[in-house]
Amino acid sequence: MTESLYLISAVLFIFALKLFSRPSTAFRANNLAIGGMVLAIISAFNLKFADYDVVFYLVILVSAGLGVVVSNRVQMTQMPELVGIFNGLGGGASGAIAYVELSNSTLVLTDFSVAIFSMTIGVFTFSGSLIAVAKLRGKLNSFNATVINILSGVLLVGVITMLTTKIDYSTEYIIILSLLLGITRVVLIGGADMPVVIAFLNSLSGIAAMAAGFIVNSIILIIAGALVGASGIILTLLMCSAMNRTIYQVLKGGFGTTKINNEYEKDPISTSAEDIAIQLSYADSVVIVPGYGMAVAQAQSAVKELTNTLKSKNIEVKFAIHPVAGRMPGHMNVLLAEVDIDYEDMFTLEDINSEFSATDVVLVIGANDVVNPLARTDEDSPIYGMPILDVDMAKQVVVIKRSMSPGYAGIANPLFIEENTKMLFADAKEGLENIVKSFELV
Ligand code: TAP
Repeated sequence: MTESLYLISAVLFIFALKLFSRPSTAFRANNLAIGGMVLAIISAFNLKFADYDVVFYLVILVSAGLGVVVSNRVQMTQMPELVGIFNGLGGGASGAIAYVELSNSTLVLTDFSVAIFSMTIGVFTFSGSLIAVAKLRGKLNSFNATVINILSGVLLVGVITMLTTKIDYSTEYIIILSLLLGITRVVLIGGADMPVVIAFLNSLSGIAAMAAGFIVNSIILIIAGALVGASGIILTLLMCSAMNRTIYQVLKGGFGTTKINNEYEKDPISTSAEDIAIQLSYADSVVIVPGYGMAVAQAQSAVKELTNTLKSKNIEVKFAIHPVAGRMPGHMNVLLAEVDIDYEDMFTLEDINSEFSATDVVLVIGANDVVNPLARTDEDSPIYGMPILDVDMAKQVVVIKRSMSPGYAGIANPLFIEENTKMLFADAKEGLENIVKSFELV
């Protein structure tokens, strides 16, 4: 019976992962994954529920309750931080299991090695994830890269020596070294690379859990850990390729630390909500490009309202979704799906880029780096080589943002001063609502 539950829950996890690959099926995927996790937890009891103390059940109830409260309260823009915390706790839990098992002197050599592996990776993931969360929250700033790199190199040599030689050491030393290694490795990585690091640490937490599964003989932990490890590394590599960076470049750190000239040669052309309404009403085709600013302003309902208005005037509306727009994979898809924007109207970078030259108006809502033409031309730019949405090729571009401030990569965007670009300096939600209102006067 227990093995059948393992099997069903593993199949549910695999189907869920498959369904997560499309926004239209992601909600179903989440429910399948929840079902799989519930079965996995039940099966972990080996169906001998009475053997467990009441405290055990209390801990599970309190933790589950906390999980529900925290997840419900967190803002969509804070999701990478929440995932970071979950990864850290997952890694810490695997490290703790391994530590307890290592205190068991009857461990055979292979189990001993696997336990050391799980403990090292788990503890590294724990401290690295906490640093990643602090960096995402802007609580940690720059550090001297050379000093940190030397320290982290020494720590790495220390951990490898302990793991590969017969030096008599206590497991607590490995814990301390792994903790410090996690901190020093992640503290140098900054700016736009942090969500990639979170995906990488997610993968490591899966690998640590898989190793813990071998030690405690839990098939479902091995399967779930392997799925997290594999899908996490695939996600990491996909994010790296969407930003045109290698995983080595990301982990090396230092991105965004070079001084960049953010001055603009001329003033942008600013516009008003009324003028945009007139401009849009003459268009046959409009492409909307959402970015991080739309998420911050929670402007998705206003976007939907504008879309309805445009469609009611027989204007074709499409959405161009950059793979790293916002702050987490699928960020824009999730927000737009929330307000029932048709999936058929959302287009990937590869599908939409060739259409911009034939588009009458592109409306960029709180996006910056993902539409920065410097990525195509300026070899010294930190985003050089990142595939971007070629909105500057459109006949007219309208950008809604509050100021000329840079985006996540911290660099100026020449799109804003192009001849065919007009800027509406406003909060995305407020700006869009004013455009919709202005349509009533057009
Ligand atoms: P960003 O380049 O970060 O630009 C966002 C813009 O939104 C800012 O320039 C800001 O300008 C504007 N903004 C902020 N609040 C606003 C509001 N209330 N109303 C209107 N505008 C507002 O965003 P993007 O183009 O979406 O690019 C995403 C960046 O994140 C990329 O650099 C990407 O590499 C990085 N990143 C993303 C991910 C994933 S998976 N999505 C992962 C790692 C890194 P103002 O302050 O002037 O308003």
